[in-house]
Amino acid sequence: MTQADNMKGSKTIAVHWREEEKLYPPTRFIGQAYMTDPAVLERFSEKHFPECYNDYAELLDWFQYWHTTLDDSNPPFFKWFVGGKLNACYNCVDRHLEKQRNKTAFYFVPEPEGEPIEAWTYQMLYRRVNEVAAMLRDFCGLKRGDCVTLHLPMTMELPITMLACARLGVIHSEVFGGFSGKACADRIVDSASRVLITMDAYNRGGKLNDHKQKADIAIKAAAERGAKVDKVLVWRRYPGKYGSATPMVEGRDFFADEVLKDYRRQQVEPEVMDANDTLFIMYSSGTTGKPKGAQHCTGGYMAYVAGTSKYIQDIHPEDVYWCMADIGWITGHSYIVYGPLALGASSVLYEGAPNVPDAERPWRIAEALGVNIFHTSPTAIRGLRRAGSEGPAKYDYHFKHMTTVGEPIEPEVWRWYWEVVGKREAVIVDTWWQTENGGFLCTTVPGIHPMKPGSAGPGAPGIYPVIYDESGKEIPPGSGIAGNICIRNPWPGRMLTIWGDDERFVNVYYSRYIDPKSKGWRGWPYFAADGAVQAADGYYRILGRLDDVINVAGHRLGTKELESACLTVAEVAEAAVVPVPDEVKGVLPEVYVALHPGIEADERIAQKVEAAIIQDIGPIARPRRIWIVPDMPKTRSGKIMRRVLSALSASKDPGDVATLANPEIVETIRSLVQD
Ligand code: WTA
Repeated sequence: MTQADNMKGSKTIAVHWREEEKLYPPTRFIGQAYMTDPAVLERFSEKHFPECYNDYAELLDWFQYWHTTLDDSNPPFFKWFVGGKLNACYNCVDRHLEKQRNKTAFYFVPEPEGEPIEAWTYQMLYRRVNEVAAMLRDFCGLKRGDCVTLHLPMTMELPITMLACARLGVIHSEVFGGFSGKACADRIVDSASRVLITMDAYNRGGKLNDHKQKADIAIKAAAERGAKVDKVLVWRRYPGKYGSATPMVEGRDFFADEVLKDYRRQQVEPEVMDANDTLFIMYSSGTTGKPKGAQHCTGGYMAYVAGTSKYIQDIHPEDVYWCMADIGWITGHSYIVYGPLALGASSVLYEGAPNVPDAERPWRIAEALGVNIFHTSPTAIRGLRRAGSEGPAKYDYHFKHMTTVGEPIEPEVWRWYWEVVGKREAVIVDTWWQTENGGFLCTTVPGIHPMKPGSAGPGAPGIYPVIYDESGKEIPPGSGIAGNICIRNPWPGRMLTIWGDDERFVNVYYSRYIDPKSKGWRGWPYFAADGAVQAADGYYRILGRLDDVINVAGHRLGTKELESACLTVAEVAEAAVVPVPDEVKGVLPEVYVALHPGIEADERIAQKVEAAIIQDIGPIARPRRIWIVPDMPKTRSGKIMRRVLSALSASKDPGDVATLANPEIVETIRSLVQD
């Protein structure tokens, strides 16, 4: 059964998986793990909710303690640790100085293998973050509550800029570096940022990529929609050496490394933030074209990522932890930057692609740095697997713990990860969660639960999932019947709301299953928009998105966003994007376009469509194929039947098409696609 099958939108999702055999965590892992006593889980049972989460909040330093753990008087606008005051940057940097000033906070690994790895101690990070905070405050005029857009690649400047913002109480909105200027513009407009922080160029895929050019596109596009950016800070990948072909705009663009010289040795007091003040916005794709800004708070979010980094990632002070993801996604925010640093860990930041110069690069990095916790996505694992199984054994590294995140992992791929990458020495957690959630929702607790390939596991401590059918009836727990997974209770890592759109927040995540008679948090299950089944042992297996979101390589792309990019091509009249299974990336988008009457199908049009998608969204959305079809299969009310197209792309039976307005088109498209 593939993810694509699950997206057909049929009422019940058929599941044909067999039960997988469980594996037990290595005893060596259990011997050192933070959480090993099943009795601990009792502390996180419903009887102790919400106070159980005080354990997570206690991991942080507070300027002032909270008086109320959870305020649920205005659901679903839940507030955690009310009355508490803290600063995220202080918790990630300052508080570690006393005991471990000289410990490495980040290892920065440049993509070019000849360039030296940089070890940034907490002391060095402290100095630089303070200087950057002073620059943002005094040169850019940013202050508490302002929002700033970052469009930064994977270099040290990204976490430094984020932490500097957090120090000032400035809300950062980081746009994934691989996104286009146009995608960046959408996010500048929505967040009303006046300042953009970017970089001239970065290494990825074996070359230095021009990045600054996207800033110019972004600013122009944002201005056309009334959002004016008046300052652009441009970090240089190699300070003093400008690596972009685009000219700097006088009076608007400034080299950050140059301006920073005026702020040398400056210190900035961390702002005292309320627990429910916003720390950052992270955009994610929704079912409409407009991206949703998940607005994350300071106290609850920091508590949740610190708690899960400690108990699920099991990061101890002596560990070297590498999350091979991009900070431009939520995984990187929570599990490269905020969670590990809150614990005072040493975190690896790798600039480039895993296969540069060859697919053994990750193992060389692990060996060189003594990485013992490794965290990545099924897409990366599939890619490394395709390159062969000989690599890991050649290198002297030993993982105690590995994570998979972002998409469902096939049991075969899971087993390869366990045997080859982990050398059967590492425990694996398959963590299911979302941008909106801040941190893990379903996962095994690695020192307690056995692992089951392909299953995320039970709810994380304090998380109570439930599966509903379409009509809102609870599917019997453990029945193996598929339905819509929801979380019954609030948890501290959940976003506060969608930036600027409370109504959409309620509609998208809550309206589906509200019990109007309920009081407080009960009766407000969070709707995750994923299909799932729960096996008799209580483990959840995630089937994929129920909505029109395509999960490519663990990155969510809204179907609508892709379709609207296709429609920017003048010849295109209609577009439909469907997910097709792909061996490496899990799922890839496949595009169908119908042209305006009188226009002949032509390879050049397909090329234009591809270019439009890359320009509007980025190369990550590059479709597998673009089919130019004479018409779309449609319902009588004129809705495009994506389900039919998706079946044709996957060489499957499209099912009953007799009720379509134009059933004959299905055969035409089939002969085009399948011949
Ligand atoms: C999917 C990424 C199966 C899921 C942290 C979810 C997963 C979407 C898993 C969120 C997993 C994430 N197993 N599916 N372990 N983790 N997903 O917002 O469909 O980029 O809704 O957050 O990825 O993607 P997002």
